[in-house]
Amino acid sequence: MRMYDIIVKKRDGGELTKQEIDYFIDGYTKGDIPDYQAAAFTMAIYFQGMTQAETATLTQAMVNSGETIDLSAIKGHKVDKHSTGGVGDKVTFIVGPLVASVGVPVAKMSGRGLGHTGGTLDKLEAIKDLKIEMEKEQFIKNVNEHKLAVAGQTGNLAPADKKLYALRDVIGTVDSLPLIAGSIMSKKLASGADSIVLDVKTGSGAFMKTLEDSESLAREMVNIGNSLGRNTVAVISDMNQPLGFEVGNANEIREAAEILQGKKVEDLRNLSLELASHMTVLAEIFASYEEAYETLEQNLENGKAFEAFRSFIEAQNGDLSMVDDLTNLPTSSHHIEVTADQDGYIAEIDAESIGVAAMYLGAGRSTKDDLINHGVGITLKKKIGDAIKAGETLVVLHSDDENPDSSIEKVKQAYIISNEKVEAPRLIHKVIK
Ligand code: URA
Repeated sequence: MRMYDIIVKKRDGGELTKQEIDYFIDGYTKGDIPDYQAAAFTMAIYFQGMTQAETATLTQAMVNSGETIDLSAIKGHKVDKHSTGGVGDKVTFIVGPLVASVGVPVAKMSGRGLGHTGGTLDKLEAIKDLKIEMEKEQFIKNVNEHKLAVAGQTGNLAPADKKLYALRDVIGTVDSLPLIAGSIMSKKLASGADSIVLDVKTGSGAFMKTLEDSESLAREMVNIGNSLGRNTVAVISDMNQPLGFEVGNANEIREAAEILQGKKVEDLRNLSLELASHMTVLAEIFASYEEAYETLEQNLENGKAFEAFRSFIEAQNGDLSMVDDLTNLPTSSHHIEVTADQDGYIAEIDAESIGVAAMYLGAGRSTKDDLINHGVGITLKKKIGDAIKAGETLVVLHSDDENPDSSIEKVKQAYIISNEKVEAPRLIHKVIK
């Protein structure tokens, strides 16, 4: 077999065989196939696409290129959740305990953040002494005992994807649906859960800006999961503005803990209940979505979900005094209000700009080696559809710099105020099974 022939076959719109796809992934991972041939091949895929069968085969080959995590020592049906990424997305800290509160084990491997969206591990580390590195045995023990553990990704998961994604990033082939879907799903499948719920974001702050593209990506990923033996559901949710009111590490932990204590922040709470309901139905704890939703909602009110959160934090050595009294979480030295210049209604809040403004404050990294400041962040005081008067506060910047001018400018750019009344965007656009 020659890589040249495989490239030409795809370039001309042919359907590749399993042997051809395996030959590429195996050869590229080992370094036998050079970057220039892999570049030409991904460009051919970019233009010609892949069939569902080809995409599933490519994904399985990327899973097989490295280690897979064996979660069989964890009792029960393991369900994972994955978000395609958004600003203010602290849903993992709500959904994890919520699902754990009805006995479904969640063994979550997470990463750090780069750019305008924060990483789950960075946010968790806002809680003093919380350990996210642990031996596999400890991780499994924690999930068995507390139904939830969150750890840094260990092992060499889907190395073919790592190499290919880095190549695609510099040659303009990231935006290919089968390649994105295969890339995300290869890492999820290698992480070992029995079922997967995907939160596919759509809108200005999302990777996929239109509902049509988000739906295509969601369908592609659901097909991959289902055809490779994992029940997969995708929820397409709105990312035309940040989720909830808080952005930043300690800020997001605080807001998540408040939801777990029954606070009603509508979008964040509803999305968390939606995702958790699908997860618990897939785990066969509930017969129907409605039954799941009702019980999970009760667990936000009766303290069970918050208790599951406390128990997981304690098991990972986190300082519980920060959870029991949220004012003990890290904070900043300055709290600067950014106000509106005109009366009207909030028409747009560009989530990406809010994320970048938070990153400038120190809540995120612009390069891999930047240090995170857990106490800084942004509190939104107005969301899309809200009425506003000139001089009223749009956001509060929590900053250690007295004059965070670049963040102020970015936040002002993010908010568009209209004279006409504006409807709040719909939160859940579609569920794909
Ligand atoms: N995220 C991934 O993990 N892979 C892609 O290809 C795009 C986004």
